[in-house]
Amino acid sequence: MLELFSRHSNLRRSRFAASVMVVVTLIGSAFAADAPKIVQKDGRYALIVDGQPFLILGGQIHNSSAWPSELPQVWESMAALHANTMEAPVYWEQMEPQPGKFDFTNVDAIVTGARAHDLHVVFLWFGTWKNGNMHYVPAWIKADPQRYPRVIRPDGEPIDVLSPLGHNTLEADKSAFAALMHHLKQIDGDQHTVLMIQVENESGNIGSVRDNSETANREFAGSVPADLLAATHKQPGPWRQVFGGDADELFQTYHQAKYINEVASAGKAEMNIPFYMNVWVNYPPPLMPQLQQDMPGIDYPSGGAWQKYVGLWRVLAPSIDVLGPDMYSDDSGFYRCVFDIYNRPDNPLLIPEIGSGDSYAKALFYALGDGAIGFSPFGVDQNILADQPFKSTAYNFALIGSMDREIAALEFEGKLKTAVEEPGQASREIDFGDWQVSVAFGFPQPDGGRAPGTKDAHGAALVARLGPDEFLITGIDASINFHLPGKLPWSRSEIISAEQGVYENGVWKPMRLWNGDENDRGLCFYQKPQAVRVRLGKF
Ligand code: DGJ
Repeated sequence: MLELFSRHSNLRRSRFAASVMVVVTLIGSAFAADAPKIVQKDGRYALIVDGQPFLILGGQIHNSSAWPSELPQVWESMAALHANTMEAPVYWEQMEPQPGKFDFTNVDAIVTGARAHDLHVVFLWFGTWKNGNMHYVPAWIKADPQRYPRVIRPDGEPIDVLSPLGHNTLEADKSAFAALMHHLKQIDGDQHTVLMIQVENESGNIGSVRDNSETANREFAGSVPADLLAATHKQPGPWRQVFGGDADELFQTYHQAKYINEVASAGKAEMNIPFYMNVWVNYPPPLMPQLQQDMPGIDYPSGGAWQKYVGLWRVLAPSIDVLGPDMYSDDSGFYRCVFDIYNRPDNPLLIPEIGSGDSYAKALFYALGDGAIGFSPFGVDQNILADQPFKSTAYNFALIGSMDREIAALEFEGKLKTAVEEPGQASREIDFGDWQVSVAFGFPQPDGGRAPGTKDAHGAALVARLGPDEFLITGIDASINFHLPGKLPWSRSEIISAEQGVYENGVWKPMRLWNGDENDRGLCFYQKPQAVRVRLGKF
């Protein structure tokens, strides 16, 4: 589970510019040799890698790309994306072609190649579940439904999903996953190339709300287990009586959560690094309002950790450290709401998959403003599928990637805020209390006129407090003006210096000072990935 990270008392007294460095150094010396872990402080989270907060700027490769034959183009694609981490599947069918005979060729090629390309890796365990189906299980499991039973529909038809009540299936998945983690411990226990593991993929049933096999029906007719009663604050009784119309879905959720928790625990016993589950969320159906109902098993995989059941999953599956929503809607109103649901005191915000097209790119800035520990567009290598290009996310990753460790530390300290453009809202205010920040999107910004906004409302700005009067800023098609509360920019306040530079190995390297036209109407970020450290004064 997540560890509490206690604040060092000296840090409170020091200026924040120094404090970020001190935090990083202290964490570094105490935990540098430790495996990657998630820590929590004051309700915020960090993924600590080699002793420092790490921000996953990831790229998930296509489903059939984690093969040695595909890796040359994969490495090229990762470089084009400016990612620092690759998310790659591990296929159960490839890894265990015969029961108990393991083949780690694909895994080894990915770890070795990632090291050579200066990348970290998140492995995705395509085990019992993949997108609410069972397509990645080995052929010997597919061929033996007696031993590895399927989910049965209410009409008696089996579907291509394995039942979480199948004891042999659970044992097989556990032993394969444990073998994977055992192997990773051997090849990566001291190098920390592998940061996290995704356990299963969008788990749940597509095609039936619950398993209706004889075994499952017998269980369903019995009493609700005590741990589920406690988690849901219900009185004892049989499933239908206790949960009414939600009983079938909750039955599936309970058995699936128990199953996945057991798989995860078996893996954790071999190698203890953060584990997460990616979730197929429930999208609002584009239908008539009277038809807008949640349909488990149709709208989303039944039994999964969708929006309504995040809290329940956190209780039932404690060996999973994070539940992360996969996001395939670029409606910012919707995804911001989903980010809010998964960003909880007991769950860090992680976006393990998101669309790679340009319309999704600004979601990175919302996620950073919410303290996300990672953000990974899906399908970023070359493929036979007609994917959308990922120009904007690559630009964002180039911008943020040059200072990813600093950004992760500032997020963890609660010092970072973002502003994002929306249609019809070409200006935004960011509130740092004694300093206010006016952000205006789109160029040109004529004197005396309003900022025009951008054609597709893609502007964004990131402002992080380094000290009482010092900020790190950057943006996309945005101008940034500081001012005192209730005053205009340059009224009783001024820029002492605005230094453009870059972070190199944690050290700020100044390149030039911005002044005159580059400052007087706001610090402008346009068409170039640049960052500026601003010192402000009051007079
Ligand atoms: C979500 C899944 O988790 C991915 O493996 C992939 O299938 C994507 N959907 C895109 O289709």
